[in-house]
Amino acid sequence: MYNIAIDGPAGAGKSTIAKQIARRKGYIYVDTGAMYRAMALFLIENQISPEEPDKISEKCREADISIVYENGEQVVLLNGRNVNGLIRTEEVSNMASASSVNGDVRKKLVELQQKLAEKADVVMDGRDIGTCVLPNADLKIYLTASSSVRAKRRYDELAARGEECDIDVIKGDIEERDYRDMHRDISPLKQADDAVLVDSSDMTIEEVIGRILELCAG
Ligand code: DC
Repeated sequence: MYNIAIDGPAGAGKSTIAKQIARRKGYIYVDTGAMYRAMALFLIENQISPEEPDKISEKCREADISIVYENGEQVVLLNGRNVNGLIRTEEVSNMASASSVNGDVRKKLVELQQKLAEKADVVMDGRDIGTCVLPNADLKIYLTASSSVRAKRRYDELAARGEECDIDVIKGDIEERDYRDMHRDISPLKQADDAVLVDSSDMTIEEVIGRILELCAG
């Protein structure tokens, strides 16, 4: 199996890039953030708050999370139900950020991710793929961009949808999330020793894809 791990902070373009690489190589794209989001949705639906770590540890055992592919798109199933349309809200983002620090949640989802990578060639993106989930991945990429560039990309995305927003607030949120992801006790976001750093601040999507495909070939 050929496994590609792509880690990096929020808004660096991981999912856009990982999806394209998977398509071009004929590999399966595994979005691990979506699994943490599905778990967060389950906890919210069970009225558990981010401030209840013991309840999170206990309840997460009842969540059966799996993924299937429909027309090449990853569909996340939560206890058999397609939850793709429910996991991109602000509430779920916040809960995912809080519940992903929980060791029991991580253990369960990491096992699932490792099983997927054993069975197929994958491009997997997340925060701890190269450092923890797939330490023996064939290629590890740490994809980043400056917080100003990431904030500008997010701002443009929201503006295109006609949503009002303040770029300084977005930049503040991004920096706060970076801090939380990089400083948690279990599997914090960091570049694996053997990962290749790709800073996309001054690169187009095509340039980033080209660089990664070059690294796959080499
Ligand atoms: O990439 P995302 O925004 O969809 O991720 C949702 C949350 O899950 C985010 O707060 C970071 C966390 N996460 C994680 O801890 N480990 C991963 N491998 C993927 C995501």
